[in-house]
Amino acid sequence: MSTQKKAYIETYGCQMNISDTELMHGILAAEGYAATEKPEDADVILVNTCAIREHAEQRVLGRVGQLQQFRRGRPDVVIGVTGCMAQRLGADLLDRAGGVDLVMGPDAYRQLPEKLAALRHPAPALPVLGGATAAGGLTVLTFDPFENYEGVEARRTSGASAWVPIQRGCNYRCTYCIVPYVRGDEKNRAPEAILDEVHRLVADGVVEVTLLGQTVNSYEHDGWDFPRLLRAVARVPGIRRVRFTSPHPNGFTRELVAAMAEEPTVCKQLHLPVQSGHDRTLKRMLRRYTVQAYLEKIAWVREAMPEIALSTDVIVGFPGETEKEYHATLELMRTVRFDDAYLYKYSLRDGTPATRLPRKQFVPDDVAQTRLVKLIETHREIQAQINRSELGRTLEVLVEKEAKRGGLLGRTEGNKVVAFAGASTLIGHFATVRLTGTTGATFSGERVEDQPVQRVA
Ligand code: SAH
Ligand code: SF4
Ligand code: F3S
Repeated sequence: MSTQKKAYIETYGCQMNISDTELMHGILAAEGYAATEKPEDADVILVNTCAIREHAEQRVLGRVGQLQQFRRGRPDVVIGVTGCMAQRLGADLLDRAGGVDLVMGPDAYRQLPEKLAALRHPAPALPVLGGATAAGGLTVLTFDPFENYEGVEARRTSGASAWVPIQRGCNYRCTYCIVPYVRGDEKNRAPEAILDEVHRLVADGVVEVTLLGQTVNSYEHDGWDFPRLLRAVARVPGIRRVRFTSPHPNGFTRELVAAMAEEPTVCKQLHLPVQSGHDRTLKRMLRRYTVQAYLEKIAWVREAMPEIALSTDVIVGFPGETEKEYHATLELMRTVRFDDAYLYKYSLRDGTPATRLPRKQFVPDDVAQTRLVKLIETHREIQAQINRSELGRTLEVLVEKEAKRGGLLGRTEGNKVVAFAGASTLIGHFATVRLTGTTGATFSGERVEDQPVQRVA
């Protein structure tokens, strides 16, 4: 029987968390842990969590309870909560979610092996450094302004496509948002380290990279800004597709538009979160741009790249949002016509500035829900129209995986999902596919060969 230790990590939240899970697996692999997808086989079970909305946290609390079953008959199994919710709730999690041994924030992952060893072999006579608690659990929550996980080899399983974090934390303080409080201030990686990593990824067969940061376009390091970094990454030989997420509308410059338009490997796809279609709400969210400024940037993008696929994030029901302001958001959706949109109902996050707004301003849940439903309907209608107009096109699709119902799933340059029939040997490769049907949000297609590919989003 193998005695190799095994780690299971379940991930919630954004791409940054997916990327952090890859780092954690890398850190643990260096200490002899193998990754497993089966919690029942694992010696260490980690839940890498998100704190962005209350709903996300509720799910995790339930899940941590469920995971206790994997301890049965194996008392040495360690269960830990990592990530943004761990940072937010800290030691409270040890009490709230029964059976948690370790609570670790996003800057502390290098200490994972050491803390796991401390938990497996406790030395009761000696106090454990770094937040030992009465229950015997450990909390490690210190922010480290220099921690970029440089030198850690991430363990990726995503095949031909890779997440590349270039920035951690956030210097904005949008009044609804918990991220700066759980991830600390912005810190950027050295361009040499990023480019090195991209070169290594290409050598490993990666053809698509997505550069990650909370406000990725505010990247700045030793005279390098984001457009310069983007161009450099786009020119790494062997890279076929470059994406980035999420840029902030502030600092979304003409120079960045030019880099996107001029570098053939940069996908003609942009996720530019708008949050609201009304200036008063934007101001109270502390987003630091106006609707007009946002629309102007969209106009630059469309002028330079008419085929661009656009997506956004929107929050409805922000405290004090009036019916009129909400209608301005609907209007903005109809004006821009996004290919995709992530639409959320405001969720109060303790410790964020918006919690100090007068309670009487808070939008009742049924009102917020009605606003959300109508916004989703409006967006879906527009999305279906756009996607129907794309039927018949022949595109390059990067094949990602087998679909649950058989066949393959891949993504177009515009980041749209296409299901089509084909052999699993195509996974990780490009296929030329004609779009033949759409559910509204995703496509079905047919593989075609020896057909010229139209470069469209
Ligand atoms: N850094 C990114 C956003 C990260 S969070 C940016 O600034 O664009 C992803 C999305 O979650 C946000 O764009 C926002 O739409 C949503 N979100 C953040 N906090 C929220 C809250 N308290 N309630 C509801 N949605 C929220
Ligand atoms: Fe949150 Fe605003 Fe920072 Fe995005 S820019 S992570 S919404 S504070
Ligand atoms: Fe969630 Fe943290 Fe990302 S709060 S959205 S996992 S940065």
